[in-house]
Amino acid sequence: MAIYFPEEKLTEIRNTANISDIISERVVLKKAGKDLVGLCPFHSEKTPSFTVSPAKQIFHCFGCGAGGNVFSFLMKYDGIGFVEAVQSLARRYGIQLPSSEMTPAQKKIVSERDRLFDLNKQIMMFYKEQLSDRSIGKTGREYLEKRGFNQEIIDQFSLGFAPDGWDSLIGFFRKIKTSQALAEKTGLIIPKKNKGFYDRFRNRIMFPIYDVTNQIIGFGGRVLDDSKPKYLNSPETIIYNKSRSLYGVQAAKEKARETGHIYIVEGYFDLLALQQHGIKNSVATLGTSLTPDHVRMLKRGFAQKSFLVFDSDDAGLKAAHRSISIFMNEGMDAAVIVLPKGYDPDSYIFKNGRDAFLQASEKAFSMMEFLVETAVKIHGLSMEGKVRIISDLKEPLSQINDAVAKSIYIKYLAERLNIDETAIFEKIKSVKQNQPAGRFKQNQECVSSESEGPSISSEMLRFEKQIISMMLQFPEILPEIENKRVLDYFIDKRLVAIGHLIVEVPPPRAGDVAGLMNRLDSVELQKMIASLVITDEAWDRDNCEKLLAQFINSRQRRENSLLSQIKAAEESKDETLLFSLLKKKQEQLINR
Ligand code: UTP
Ligand code: MN
Repeated sequence: MAIYFPEEKLTEIRNTANISDIISERVVLKKAGKDLVGLCPFHSEKTPSFTVSPAKQIFHCFGCGAGGNVFSFLMKYDGIGFVEAVQSLARRYGIQLPSSEMTPAQKKIVSERDRLFDLNKQIMMFYKEQLSDRSIGKTGREYLEKRGFNQEIIDQFSLGFAPDGWDSLIGFFRKIKTSQALAEKTGLIIPKKNKGFYDRFRNRIMFPIYDVTNQIIGFGGRVLDDSKPKYLNSPETIIYNKSRSLYGVQAAKEKARETGHIYIVEGYFDLLALQQHGIKNSVATLGTSLTPDHVRMLKRGFAQKSFLVFDSDDAGLKAAHRSISIFMNEGMDAAVIVLPKGYDPDSYIFKNGRDAFLQASEKAFSMMEFLVETAVKIHGLSMEGKVRIISDLKEPLSQINDAVAKSIYIKYLAERLNIDETAIFEKIKSVKQNQPAGRFKQNQECVSSESEGPSISSEMLRFEKQIISMMLQFPEILPEIENKRVLDYFIDKRLVAIGHLIVEVPPPRAGDVAGLMNRLDSVELQKMIASLVITDEAWDRDNCEKLLAQFINSRQRRENSLLSQIKAAEESKDETLLFSLLKKKQEQLINR
């Protein structure tokens, strides 16, 4: 990663943008001693091994080895480049960056996302103005009023109105002098067959879609009557990924974290209706079904348990089934609220009120109850019915990774159907065997963080790691490290690289590991450092001296013993042995 920014700027940003604040926006973290821990957003896990050190301003996952500073976190989490990560933090905290450091090409890539966020915000304000315009917004306001929505909710969610014309937004783009290229990137204008563009959204109520950090990533729009299509959504863009976005996250986050629960509904208005009735911990999927990414995001960042509130029509039940498989697979607890026929959350809560809705959620089905009961309803409890039920359920059951949860579910099913548990176990086993291995493992990115290269005893590797972590803590020993050419004795190439970097440009202050990371051009090295300093014991100066002496000693011994073995082999004219010893020696030299 080339350095585009002065070191002081990066330090300023890192000091202002506290890593625990930034990560907390996306992952629920709990205090554990001086560190914070949570479920790793980068691999599937049930017990937290993702660790953030506020003191060192770094993160490290003991499970998958991911690690780095606040910039590396954003790069990995948001899928953006280094420069973008720096820019977005600088922007957010109002830190001025010297732009001369970047080439025009770099500037373009960097700012495109930010420019789109800005433009989306302006578009939101444009649609909002249209809604409050006396004549243009009249029908829109009347529609919202008819559906029972108050001004507070309309304002909180920045609802707007797209006027009934082909070029209202295009006119606005012209007025604020948006470049054609950027305007097209919003996905809100569509090319005509021959020439020119027209507005995607016309004569619709507009819903801006926000991400967790309160930036507008896209829009949805509803017609005011029964015409089709009822809803339209922005296409995916460089800032809008549907399978990772949920409508209302920005407003749900706080309450979801507080209660540990989150309600998931299907529609924009369902969500607004719950919000207006004070059920703030709710989000909506947006015209796409729930994805593993959604569930992972909710589980890591919001709540332990989801309440699925689907329509009780066939499509709704199907969607609930699909979603349950995902929840089971991702190991997140969920329950299903089945509303009386003909209702969706919006119509139900407006008619029966908040308390009735909360009562319905107390009677929610557990995932297994829901699956079993809907299957019982369809197939009945005759012998053939039971066979079909098991056949319906073996797929979702086989996907559960957690053995304890799985056996509880199977027990439940066995009791409900009054058949033997082992029979069900057998059925499920047969599913597993028919599936290609690992099909249900998503995003399992487990990296071994140990060394490649020639076999190296873990004892020596530990020595080398300890020395690096000492060097990070006590820059004053760096001259000694150089004088004694300690790094020359290292065997792990990655550690040698890290060591040289530390020696070349010592951290401005002891322990500024996060700062050092900006100078590492590989994610591998960043991970390694994070794991080093997050696991290290605290060294004191005396220990340092001892450790260094020990290390040099053991290396010299090793070398001497090799040399004397070579000598002996030469004397005894054992050519095979000599050859292999020389090869070993050569390896040592190469690896320095
Ligand atoms: P529904 O058809 O269940 O409508 O769509 P709804 O939410 O109850 O809408 P109202 O109450 O009639 O206004 C549920 C969700 O599916 C997506 C939208 O996100 C919608 O909120 N959808 C629906 C579309 O994306 N396109 C459509 O044409 C219809
Ligand atoms: Mn509805």
